[in-house]
Amino acid sequence: MIFSKRNNAYKTILTVLLCLLCAALWGRAQGAPVSEEAKKLVAQMTLEEKLGIIVGDGNFVPGFVRNTQDAGQGMILEDQRSHPILPRLSIRTTAMSDGPAGLNREARKEGQEYFQYTTAFPTSTCLAATWNMDLVLAVGEAFGNEVLEYDYELILAPGVNLHRNPHDGRVFEYYSEDPLLSGKSAAAMILGLQSNGIGATPKHFLAHNQQTDRRTYNAVISQRALREIYLRGFEIAVKEGQPKCIMTSYNRMNGLYTAENPELLQTVTCEEWGFNGFFITDFDGLGSSVAKVRAGHNLLMSGNTEEYEELKKAIESKSFDEALLDERLARYIDFKLDSPRSHGHKPSHNPDLEAHAKIAEQGAKEGMVLLENKDNCLPLKGDETVAIFGKTSYAFNPYGTGSGEVRSLKHCISVYDGLKAAGLGVLEDMKDDYLAYIEKIKRDNLVPDYFDNPKMRKDNGIVDDQAPRHFKNRLVAFSREKELTREEISAYCERSATALITFGRSAGENYENGYLPITEREHQLLRDISEIYHSAGKKVIVVLNVVGVWETASWSDLADAILMAWLPGQEGGTAVAEILTGAVNPSGKLPDSFPLKYEDVPSAASFPGSPNYDSVNSYYNEGIYVGYRYYDSFNVPTAYPFGFGLSYTTFSYSDLKLSADQFQSKLQVSVTVENTGSVAGKEIVQLYLAAPTTQIEKPQQELKGFAKTVLLQPGEREVLHFELDERALASFWSGISAWVADQGSYEVRIGASSQDIRLKASFELAEDIVVEKVNDVLYPNVLLEELSRSES
Ligand code: BGC
Repeated sequence: MIFSKRNNAYKTILTVLLCLLCAALWGRAQGAPVSEEAKKLVAQMTLEEKLGIIVGDGNFVPGFVRNTQDAGQGMILEDQRSHPILPRLSIRTTAMSDGPAGLNREARKEGQEYFQYTTAFPTSTCLAATWNMDLVLAVGEAFGNEVLEYDYELILAPGVNLHRNPHDGRVFEYYSEDPLLSGKSAAAMILGLQSNGIGATPKHFLAHNQQTDRRTYNAVISQRALREIYLRGFEIAVKEGQPKCIMTSYNRMNGLYTAENPELLQTVTCEEWGFNGFFITDFDGLGSSVAKVRAGHNLLMSGNTEEYEELKKAIESKSFDEALLDERLARYIDFKLDSPRSHGHKPSHNPDLEAHAKIAEQGAKEGMVLLENKDNCLPLKGDETVAIFGKTSYAFNPYGTGSGEVRSLKHCISVYDGLKAAGLGVLEDMKDDYLAYIEKIKRDNLVPDYFDNPKMRKDNGIVDDQAPRHFKNRLVAFSREKELTREEISAYCERSATALITFGRSAGENYENGYLPITEREHQLLRDISEIYHSAGKKVIVVLNVVGVWETASWSDLADAILMAWLPGQEGGTAVAEILTGAVNPSGKLPDSFPLKYEDVPSAASFPGSPNYDSVNSYYNEGIYVGYRYYDSFNVPTAYPFGFGLSYTTFSYSDLKLSADQFQSKLQVSVTVENTGSVAGKEIVQLYLAAPTTQIEKPQQELKGFAKTVLLQPGEREVLHFELDERALASFWSGISAWVADQGSYEVRIGASSQDIRLKASFELAEDIVVEKVNDVLYPNVLLEELSRSES
């Protein structure tokens, strides 16, 4: 015997270490091992079959014919059901659909009587504004259940990019300007979706923050901003949510297409974060198929002949190893083998839409943010008559356009519907006039102002004054507001106790239309309403049915109350009404800072690229100073700060406790919140950390934790708990490629918003800690002049 008993112990330790090393090495190149079954299936395929699956999920497999009729909405094919690709191996296409606000299935056709609807849940920004991760999880569970029961296996959601600039037409598909709130929301959504056995697909990885030149622009970002801001949300989503898939983005980043970047896909995502799923490209992106598969892709969508031929030639000429193709494909086949269908699930085609509507309603109620409530004019009395102005009060926007739409919802509750159902008096003739105006917009079908310029006309094939077919769902939102004379407004004023006006916007992929501020026509209408109602001693409420950050400073003095309703999904009107009447106490808070003016946005000067509208490079010059990290550090006042939101009650904060005054690997924080007002309510408490700057500069403070209370009755208290780990203290020091916590004094700030800090306490870190050493990758390919506090 070579090994004695003692040697046996060494042997065991050695074996464990070797296994760990092998696992680490395996993870380095591949992620977790794929199943033997998947490998066997790939081994039985011809090269043409393998290529035909990895490129387009079957489209190029000899003999396979899919119905590829494009529905003209997003890139998803109309018939994206599961079909047999290789019957002899029982391999089928993956049934996939878009999100992220609900299953984006084909819409009901004219004359079609029997139709199964889907639920339009609140859009991502509205969900982040709930700060309630249990609720986001519940939305994910319900949404995922529709994916499953309607026989889909993969949902191309959630969107996890950071809100860098409000112009981006896809902001509503993403959560927040803060990576912690974004990452936690995405993780909760992924867990909810995947609890149904289907796959979730966080997208668009990475730095997809603009629509201008979306297929080509090169985002130039420092390593530090990448690690702390842009990668961070995805990192949390991947580590905590364990998604089965990730979709790369169209754009380039620091020189390479994200889809072709092995450092991004292999080194960071698989090796450092332990991602075990498969990578899919965004649909019909540019670049080389060989480079994409090499970098880590397991599926190229939607796939085309050039991609297929490029890969085939590379394999035939031995410039690309077929073994790598096999490995990539096997990982994707593994996903198919693990789908609910493969496990024998029979879809019911009958999810509980009523229960899901309730969850959508709860999301909308908790996500809406009360921005103004002068003289406590809200809640309304409950039996008064409200004059409801604004076309989107009647044609409410539940979601945006493009692949982020939910095309087969059954209904959308408008503000008018909601107020009426809540028992408030409404003016029916006013409604009839607005509905007639909306019908006229649809009938006239004129090109809306926003699209009426040479570039947009060309891009959308507009030849005369008629809007193209694909504008149908956005026509009302983008058309002009109805004009009213002062006499008409005065007549409404005589018959109502309060005026409500909704300003509505839509936005979506391909356009920088996330931030379309108040028009002169709308401003004039608001001025007139405000003057007439105020001189009659009556109040004016503004509801914002907009995609995200909006300009409010130029008109907010005209309103007594402002409710940010976002794009809140199909039940939005009910949520608006119940908040206005006080049946629901608003408890949402802003996931983004609202600037006083657009020019104050830290990326304003460099967005969407340089030079404008011919963007080759899009320089992320603001570095880590995104959102409140910028406004707070550079003393730039905002209209409403990050984390802000009003309630009908008040809360006191007390008893801030830290588990130690010296940091040692972890620190527990607790705080007591009491409802000190007269109605029940929920409070969102935010933990910001101000770190010492002995080694590198830091933002003035950063969000490191948040919690929402239960519904507290007047006088009721709750103790909220937070935990700070080493990573929470650390900043990314790119010189040594490590997360480092600086020695010194840290201040814990407990706030009701980033600007309303209620309690503070400090702790010390005795010595610098190198919390985590990571790979020195993803550095910019051009010189970047980053904003620095030391130069301000
Ligand atoms: C979008 C993706 C979407 C895909 C499929 C692309 O244009 O960027 O978000 O999942 O189309 O519809």
